[in-house]
Amino acid sequence: MKKILLVAAACLILASTVSAQTGFTAVSEMLGARCATCHEWAASYKGIADPARVVASFPEKSLLYQVVSTDRMPRSGVKLSGKEKALIKAWIAAGALPGESPPYPAASEQPSGPVPEPCPCGLK
Ligand code: HEC
Repeated sequence: MKKILLVAAACLILASTVSAQTGFTAVSEMLGARCATCHEWAASYKGIADPARVVASFPEKSLLYQVVSTDRMPRSGVKLSGKEKALIKAWIAAGALPGESPPYPAASEQPSGPVPEPCPCGLK
C-alpha cells in the first residue's frame, strides 16, 4: 500500500512539474513508462541519447523527437501529450545531457559507440 501511494505521489509530482522540467530524470521516467515495453534502449541514457536518435541541441534533427512529434510513436496505445513532447524537445534543445542541472557529468559519460543490442521483441 505504501508503495502504491509513493508511486502515485511521484506521478503527481512528475505531472505537475513536467512543463518546467527539462532534466533527464523526467525524460527517462516518461520514456521508460511509454516506450520501454517495445524499446529496450528507452531504459538507459546511452540508449535514449544514442547519436542515431538524438542530435544534441537540435530537436528537429533528432529522430527521437521527430517520431513523437508526428505521433509515429508510440506505435500503439495513447500518444504523447503536448507537454510530454515539449519535455523531450526542451531536453534535447538544452543539450540532451544526462544530469538535471550543472555541473553536468564529464564528457566521457556521454554516449558513444554503436546502437544498442536489439530488444527481445525483435526490434532494432
Ligand atoms: C507497441 C510497440 C512500440 C511502442 C510502445 C513504441 N515503439 Fe517505437 N518503434 C516500434 C517499432 C515496431 C519500430 C520500427 C518500425 C518503425 O520505425 O515504425 C519503432 C521504431 C522507433 C524508432 C526508430 C528506430 C529506433 O529504434 O531508433 C524510434 C526513435 C522510436 N521507435 C521511438 C519510440 C518512442 C520515443 C516511443 C515512446 C514514446 C516508442 N517508440 C514507443 C514499436 C514501438
